[in-house]
Amino acid sequence: MHDFRYVNGRLYCEGVSLESLALKHGTPLYVYSQHTLLEHFRKLDSALSEMDHLVCFAVKANSNLAVLSALAGAGAGFDIVSEGELRRVIAAGGDTSKCAFAGVGKTESEIAFALKAGIHTFNVESEPELERINRVAGKLKKVAPIAIRVNPNVNARTHAKITTGTYENKFGIAFERVEEVYARASKLRNIKLRGVQMHIGSQLTQVKPFAEAVAKVLPLVRSLKQRYGIEFFSIGGGIGIIYNPALASGNAAWWRRPAAKGLLTPARYADALTPLLKPLGLKILLEPGRFIVGNAGVLLTRVEYVKRTGKKNFVIVDAAMNDLIRPAFYDSYHEILPLVKRRGAEIPSDIVGPICESGDYFAKDRPLHKVSEGQHLALLSAGAYGFVMASNYNARPLAAEVLVNGTKVCVVRDRQPVEDIWKFEKLPPWLA
Ligand code: LLP
Repeated sequence: MHDFRYVNGRLYCEGVSLESLALKHGTPLYVYSQHTLLEHFRKLDSALSEMDHLVCFAVKANSNLAVLSALAGAGAGFDIVSEGELRRVIAAGGDTSKCAFAGVGKTESEIAFALKAGIHTFNVESEPELERINRVAGKLKKVAPIAIRVNPNVNARTHAKITTGTYENKFGIAFERVEEVYARASKLRNIKLRGVQMHIGSQLTQVKPFAEAVAKVLPLVRSLKQRYGIEFFSIGGGIGIIYNPALASGNAAWWRRPAAKGLLTPARYADALTPLLKPLGLKILLEPGRFIVGNAGVLLTRVEYVKRTGKKNFVIVDAAMNDLIRPAFYDSYHEILPLVKRRGAEIPSDIVGPICESGDYFAKDRPLHKVSEGQHLALLSAGAYGFVMASNYNARPLAAEVLVNGTKVCVVRDRQPVEDIWKFEKLPPWLA
């Protein structure tokens, strides 16, 4: 599943001890396993091998150039949501003709940039956007390849903040209106109807909502193919990962656990969807982010203080919600392990950061072996929506990022120098 495991009581990423990385590069430190992320990409890619397909990595999950470059080398396309992400793909050597541009708020200049870069498609999220793309393409004397994003109104039964496929959400065009919008689009001179797209949500742990949404949209896709000769159907991203191994397989920790039962694996995903999709005879696009990179990254942190209040044991670490906001934002679970394995009783502990907010925690009442100042912990499954959601809150510099490949290590992003945080700020003349 991933390449983080204990070897002689020390937590390793592939062939490198994480303690050695924490000591050498400092903390907070993101560490990514190249083997894990490529393995996840290949597993998904090969599970779909029965169909013509393209796996477009969702850049929003992790946009480090090294991660993008590794995936580009493996043949991945990219799902992008801004000019910045497209520029990152280009900087990493990715193929723009494999980029799908999603997002409800594409600006005119973003559309123009993407048209000039020769992207694969715009995933159109509204009727005004369709008109705007046509207008911008007209000005540039180009034809814009598009897919309409269908909102299938299917509940993905995931966290409310990452559900996208119901009419409660701002995404896509309502299922019932889609045919009309295609009819309009087919009349626009600078638009080429290339496909149809949907995405119902993120961190789905069951195959059922995917199958339900695909089955619901299938008749529409068939008719669009017949009428407009579209070439592809993008079924979005959303494949979930295991954050809490105890929930996934009784109480067994992941390093003791054989294959967890009932999980959403690439094989189960493909087995459920291939029979539905293959007869369409269309190219199938996917936009996974978390599945590829989520379990390929950890955040290393140093214990600064251990503090007992009347009721609680607090472990205060040097990483904070500005480095990894998921627990504060989604109440999400991240497995927390010591880099050097400990023995003895586990104490229910709150693992918290130094930021002045009660929401700045990574875990509450989590059983943890006794730790003390200077020891290190790893927050697992931090490869997706970790660094990319980091901020400078409390004037804290952005963490460094390291990529491991076997026994090779490369710092793929330097720790931000603290002065950098206010580099673009200025004093007005009357205060200078
Ligand atoms: N395609 C579209 C249109 C999306 O909106 C998303 C994610 C993806 C693909 C990739 O989804 P994935 O395969 O990674 O689940 N920050 C949140 C997740 C936000 C997801 C936003 N959209 C988190 O930390 O859980």
